Amino acid sequence: MRPLVVAISGASGAIYGVRLLEVLAARDDVETHLVMSSGAETTIRYETGREPAEVAELADVTYGEHELAAPVASGSFLTHAMVVAPCSMRTLSGVANSAADNLIVRAADVHLKERRPLVLVVRETPLHAGHLRLMSEATAAGAIILPPVPGFYQRPETIADIVDHTIGKVLDVIGIHDHALFRRWSGPDRG
Ligand SMILES: Cc1cc2nc3c(=O)[nH]c(=O)nc-3n(C[C@H](O)[C@H](O)[C@H](O)COP(=O)(O)O)c2cc1C
Repeated sequence: MRPLVVAISGASGAIYGVRLLEVLAARDDVETHLVMSSGAETTIRYETGREPAEVAELADVTYGEHELAAPVASGSFLTHAMVVAPCSMRTLSGVANSAADNLIVRAADVHLKERRPLVLVVRETPLHAGHLRLMSEATAAGAIILPPVPGFYQRPETIADIVDHTIGKVLDVIGIHDHALFRRWSGPDRG
């Protein structure tokens, strides 16, 4: 599989990006290229108690937020897909408007122009009309808006169960189906 770009922005839910990297690090068929924003460094420390450098160790390659000459800033560097988890409203706005002044937004814009999958795990609540409009515009440009919304038919018991459900959905939409992050629905229990 071609490299997978993972970006962590400064929305709440740094755990989603960290868990995605953990899951991908356990596979031998995915090479991860990571970009973290400075906002993500704050949320990683505050919400997970980890250091951004520890999180970076989960990735195969890491770039700085302002490294606009990185390979992932070019469409000629072939990738499988890109996931922004979590995706702040600021980064969503950048993506929807091609305001590519940092590497997360530039790499996302490249995925859209090259018609490669771009998944935005957008996180904010409640949402105003501007947020909804940005999601609609990003969708029109080809992005997949995948907010971290748990399915309770899974009967989650822990935060890890809830996080894994969303990460499993992320993997599904980028064509990685051989995971066990949630049980697939096979209809109601008939017993
Ligand atoms: C603890 C914390 C939680 C935050 N949660 C969110 C959030 O859920 N959604 C959001 O859009 N911004 C959130 N923010 C604000 C973003 O970090 C801020 O807008 C930042 O500039 C986003 O930039 P980035 O997208 O480049 O990371 C949060 C900030 C902090 C410190």
